[in-house]
Amino acid sequence: MKPFKIQNIEISPPLILSPMAGVTDFTFRRLIKRRGGVGLSVSEFISVEGLTRDNPKSKRQMRFDEEERPFAVQIFGGQAPRMAMAAEMAEEVGADILDINCGCPAPKVVKNGGGSGLLRDLPRLEEILKEIKKSISIPLTLKLRTGFTESTINCVEVAKMAEQCGVEHIQLHGRTKEQGYKGLANWDLIKAVKDAVSIPVSGNGDVTTIDFALKRFKETNCDGILIGRGAMQNPWIFRQIQDVLEGREPYQPTLEEKQAVLLEFFELLLEDMPELPALGKMKQLAGQFTKGLVGGAQFRQTLYHSHSPQEILENIGIYFATLNEADTFGDGEIEADKNLEFNSCDAAAA
Ligand SMILES: Cc1cc2nc3c(=O)[nH]c(=O)nc-3n(C[C@H](O)[C@H](O)[C@H](O)COP(=O)(O)O)c2cc1C
Repeated sequence: MKPFKIQNIEISPPLILSPMAGVTDFTFRRLIKRRGGVGLSVSEFISVEGLTRDNPKSKRQMRFDEEERPFAVQIFGGQAPRMAMAAEMAEEVGADILDINCGCPAPKVVKNGGGSGLLRDLPRLEEILKEIKKSISIPLTLKLRTGFTESTINCVEVAKMAEQCGVEHIQLHGRTKEQGYKGLANWDLIKAVKDAVSIPVSGNGDVTTIDFALKRFKETNCDGILIGRGAMQNPWIFRQIQDVLEGREPYQPTLEEKQAVLLEFFELLLEDMPELPALGKMKQLAGQFTKGLVGGAQFRQTLYHSHSPQEILENIGIYFATLNEADTFGDGEIEADKNLEFNSCDAAAA
């Protein structure tokens, strides 16, 4: 449970903000990074078809700030030459690490051979990894699921092959493609991969509490942990885990800080995009953020019906004024949010 290195890049603390299409953009990543405890930030997955055809949206998705370093760009696609071209572009913009998406279950992505589609075409994946290795000097990493279906689980085989191709970090989400986000992540398979390769391995899936993270570190001996949805419910989760890893009491944000983080997010959004998409993103985060808080459900209703920044800010003010100091974050369970999970992934892949 100490910092680890990907080539010569130190991941300290060994906690990674997991990429989430439609969520972990330039704004959200900085918001979370500023709360502390994030050892590595990753872009949303970016289409290599878009990047190599000069799509402005794809290029914008590669933006990052110096404060985010170390920073990885994640790309997805199914054609080796385009993947290699996109990897070069990521290195050119100054990314510290190039990550390959080998886990996205969205039909549009899989149909074109990318994302989790690569898990059922290992020769294609091998060709992609080799081509990319020839094109870049920054470290190459892989984020994958355990397999395509329950009966074709092959993460150990994929990890070994990737290591042979020069991949320098494996990040395993303990679910199959078929599972989507249902059920629980299988951390035994994360341990199996950790035991099978000598490059660093990070585990991922369902981490929303300090205890859960510590238990998984111990059980699997993994080098790092990725947290995705848990960061939307509790932006301080990385800092809290880091505190405990380093022998301190976990940081407890005050109610004022919880309110301030929403306002900071809104300010960052408005600096970066027009009002309408900013309102949508604000509703998305505030919705997740207040899950488990007293009166959260009613607040979310009010929020979804707010139509201007002023209205949103006013409603946030009213809500927090009614919360009393005893309130805490939720009990750590991730509430299923199908819209968030599937629509954003599909939309991003479109
Ligand atoms: C809305 C959403 C979008 C996602 N987009 C990506 C993505 O672009 N790239 C990726 O590798 N994984 C993506 N994922 C998967 C997460 O990175 C992570 O593997 C998964 O949510 C499990 O971790 P968690 O339980 O900590 O959220 C996405 C997940 C969600 C919920």
